[in-house]
Amino acid sequence: MRLTLLLAAILIAGAGVFAQTQFLAARGSSASATSAVQHAAAARLDAPAIPLSPMAQLGREIFFDPRLSESGRMSCASCHDPGNAYAPANSLATQLGGTKLRQQGIRATPTLTYLERTPRFMLRLDTAFDPDEARPAKASRIAAIANANTRATDPLNALQGQPVVPEGGMDWDGRAVVLADQAEGPLLDPREMANKDRQKLLAKLAGAPYANELVAVFGPAVFKSPATGLADAYLALARFQMEDRSFHPYNSKFDFYLAGRVQLTAEEMHGLILFDDPHKGNCAACHLDKPNKNRLAPVFTDYEFEALALPRNRQLTANRNAHFFDEGLCGPLRKDPGRDSDCGLFKTPTLRNVAIRHVFFHNGEVHSLEDAVRFYVERETRPQRWYPRRADGTLAIYDDLPAMHRANVDVKDAPFDRRRGEQPALNEQEIKDVVLFLKTLTDNYRPTSQPTGQAASAAGPTASTR
Ligand code: HEC
Ligand code: HEC
Repeated sequence: MRLTLLLAAILIAGAGVFAQTQFLAARGSSASATSAVQHAAAARLDAPAIPLSPMAQLGREIFFDPRLSESGRMSCASCHDPGNAYAPANSLATQLGGTKLRQQGIRATPTLTYLERTPRFMLRLDTAFDPDEARPAKASRIAAIANANTRATDPLNALQGQPVVPEGGMDWDGRAVVLADQAEGPLLDPREMANKDRQKLLAKLAGAPYANELVAVFGPAVFKSPATGLADAYLALARFQMEDRSFHPYNSKFDFYLAGRVQLTAEEMHGLILFDDPHKGNCAACHLDKPNKNRLAPVFTDYEFEALALPRNRQLTANRNAHFFDEGLCGPLRKDPGRDSDCGLFKTPTLRNVAIRHVFFHNGEVHSLEDAVRFYVERETRPQRWYPRRADGTLAIYDDLPAMHRANVDVKDAPFDRRRGEQPALNEQEIKDVVLFLKTLTDNYRPTSQPTGQAASAAGPTASTR
């Protein structure tokens, strides 16, 4: 028995080392490619902080200014807490805002980390995919294209009949085309910062302690009209998020691992293998986890949209109306006419810093990371654990989508390709290991436990005779 355990441990450790080498070499067949990846990761870890430009400094003042809300008590940082990877530190599914901070939103607040490389929202010709990016094949994309092609009219774009894939943009539905378009959303949303109109918001900026800086950066015309003044303020907010290292430090344990400065534990490595394996988690099909051709570190999203059919969140006020559905890419928050094939699709988020989130997915229905992973492998195999029963006893699967759009749900990509009653693609231990791997994506890792030099020989025996 002991021996079997020992053997298993050696096998796992061996597989770990093998996989570490494989993973690092994945972008190229030679050792030099491996070291180039390491080199790039190390350079990111060692890069000195660059001081913020005046525009970004201004953006920081705006970001933390609660006077810019109707309540006078809510800033961007109220929901995007800098101490929690710019996501809420509380466990509310959606945050409360509005004039009295009692209005409930309909979506979970995403992290603001690792948005800096998000492409602008676009419908991209599928043929334009760069093969060098080595994107794994994704069944849902092929299905979506087939779907789109069967439609006679395609109001969203001029590429009728062509294989197009929606990609990028800000918010869960990509409705803000670029970062600088996004800020007006929360500032004017009656459920968030709740400013009554643009003119009043501009007046608040004109009366802010940093009004002089606004003039210094954007010129004396800045307060003349909301059209220019607010656009300038949004630009400053975007610059702050683009420039300040705290939004994209690339210093998680995973980054130290890419730089060759730390090993993953056997469990974390096992989690990574399952994350990659197209027959197990298959997570990397959407949450890309390899450095790209420019050796930029992975941000764990392909910026595409999918319908995962999260269970309806019955705690949300908006959902008391049985006819209300948040269908992401086809509205209601997006106002452009969506295609039927867009309904129920949401943007794939980064998984960096996901382990410090308190709620998961667009409607905040899932409250633990383990459950988030479990949902993937059980949605099809054990739907009774996720969806409620109707009065007649039948299971209301995909209950957060109107019946006519349930065909958009991804049932082709693993791990969604198993059927009811089959074994889930990951067992409980495997789910735990994937979670342990996801925990390596949390920023500000300190490799203190890594014994080096003198310390190693001193710590060595104590550690092994434990
Ligand atoms: C009341 C809470 C709240 C406040 C205040 C708030 N946000 Fe957000 N933020 C959210 C929510 C919820 C979303 C997702 C919105 C959606 O998908 O429709 C979001 C999305 C974003 C995104 C897009 C992230 C992504 O992954 O696409 C950015 C950027 C952002 N907010 C920046 C800001 C800035 C800048 C401010 C201040 C001007 C701000 N937020 C104020 C809750 C808030
Ligand atoms: C087919 C593409 C696809 C695959 C495969 C996939 N994901 Fe996702 N993931 C998404 C999308 C899209 C969302 C957002 C869905 C929503 O909220 O409606 C998401 C959201 C998440 C979230 C919630 C993040 C947050 O900020 O709330 C976690 C955690 C997650 N995925 C982990 C995984 C893991 C682990 C796997 C593998 C078992 C996996 N994903 C496989 C597309 C995918």
